[in-house]
Amino acid sequence: IPVENFDLVIFGGTGDLSRRKILPALYCRRRAGQLPADARIIAAAHSDKDQDSFRDLVRTSLQTFLDESVKDDALVEAFLDQCIYVRLDALGDDGWSDLREQLREDAVRAFYFSVGPSLFGPLSERLVTHQISTADSRIVVEKPFGHDLESARALNNDLAQCFKESQIYRIDHYLGKETVQNLMALRFANVLFEPLWNSHYVDHVQITAAEEIGVEGRGAYYDQSGAMRDMVQNHLMQLLCLTAMEPPAGVAPDDIRNEKLKVINALTDVPTSDIVRGQYRSKGDKGSYLEDCGNPDSRTESFIALKTHVETWRWAGTPFYLRTGKRLRNRMSEIAVTFKEPPHNIFADRAPNLSGNTLVIRLQPDEGIKLHVLIKEPGPGGIRLTEVPLDMTFADLSNRSSIATPDAYERLLMDVIRGDQTLFMRGDEVEAAWSWADRMITQWEQSADRPRPYDSESSGPEDALMLMHRDNRRWREIEK
Ligand code: BG6
Repeated sequence: IPVENFDLVIFGGTGDLSRRKILPALYCRRRAGQLPADARIIAAAHSDKDQDSFRDLVRTSLQTFLDESVKDDALVEAFLDQCIYVRLDALGDDGWSDLREQLREDAVRAFYFSVGPSLFGPLSERLVTHQISTADSRIVVEKPFGHDLESARALNNDLAQCFKESQIYRIDHYLGKETVQNLMALRFANVLFEPLWNSHYVDHVQITAAEEIGVEGRGAYYDQSGAMRDMVQNHLMQLLCLTAMEPPAGVAPDDIRNEKLKVINALTDVPTSDIVRGQYRSKGDKGSYLEDCGNPDSRTESFIALKTHVETWRWAGTPFYLRTGKRLRNRMSEIAVTFKEPPHNIFADRAPNLSGNTLVIRLQPDEGIKLHVLIKEPGPGGIRLTEVPLDMTFADLSNRSSIATPDAYERLLMDVIRGDQTLFMRGDEVEAAWSWADRMITQWEQSADRPRPYDSESSGPEDALMLMHRDNRRWREIEK
């Protein structure tokens, strides 16, 4: 279904995020027939470019970052006709009237702040003083949304001076991933899971976001951040919320966001003994974390594993284990819900330990959902048990109906134009998540704690394995 006609202004439109993600995502939506042919994509930046050199930049970005299967020269040229460049001074007044002239009265206006957070305030002010934003305009902001609670509050205040909360779209691209939304469908469109979705039946939940890449090229940013701020406070937190939240009353954005906020507020503080932080070692021609970040004394973690609890009636006693890290064995992100063993094992003589069923919600690669169950091994030899996955992988489904899974940015950008805030974080949610993360960060910053070194291409530091072993549990393998 095509979206309404729109003018999308990308501040920082010639930057990395725009070239890698935003422009290719918009092209793909055009290809899918969702973008009105006269929708305008306006990049606003400080460099002195003319329209032709900007369109060359867009062409090169599409060539570089699009999958071969979606490239179509004629369509690329048609898409370029929609792209406009405006030179503008974010901290002064130059260029703002040129920008105003490009915007139409009857189109939805969206302003994407693809710039550092220090520019959120100045850009917001200028959008208002130059009478460019309207009461219905959408503002899109990227992470990092703050560095801690205080800075996130300051950013929220800057935005709130100029816009209503209903106009602000805070992106967490994990919420745009296909499986993440499918988790909601699975939980709330089926009767099977919800009765078991509590501490009576769920032994524990483990959420993993493992990456093969190191911090290449982003060392300076990353060293000020670390895995807790870069991945846990936002992406893993969102996964935890969608897994643990109560069924919302409906699908209105605030129905869901209210429930997520309750989860964050119910999270326990994690004692130092339940947190393991690590830094990757060098391997072959790849440098160590300390080399990559250029700071031999760095105490920033490129890996973190922790155990927390959601203190509610539903979840009392069920731990949630989170782990994420760079330079690990494989790229793999998933949520695994492990159910308890049956109360009485009638197969005890041949299978003394029945492993509990596990529901695995795989974000990447091979996104899909699998429920691991025990069945009888085929054959005449009496009952022997074996584990098989009941597979709900979307690849099969999308091949059948020839619907390719859109990239997270494609979905999120179209939601901005439609005015649907469901998959975006509300200001209070971000602040609550920072408040939780800050309490742990302060703990380790005030101690002598240093991250443990771990081998590149491993599963992380040994101590992270111990975090589970001492509870008689095991992490799932980090495998493709
Ligand atoms: C970003 C982090 O938000 O997410 C990066 O800043 C990380 O450090 C990336 O690599 C992971 O995203 P994805 O979609 O590749 O899992």
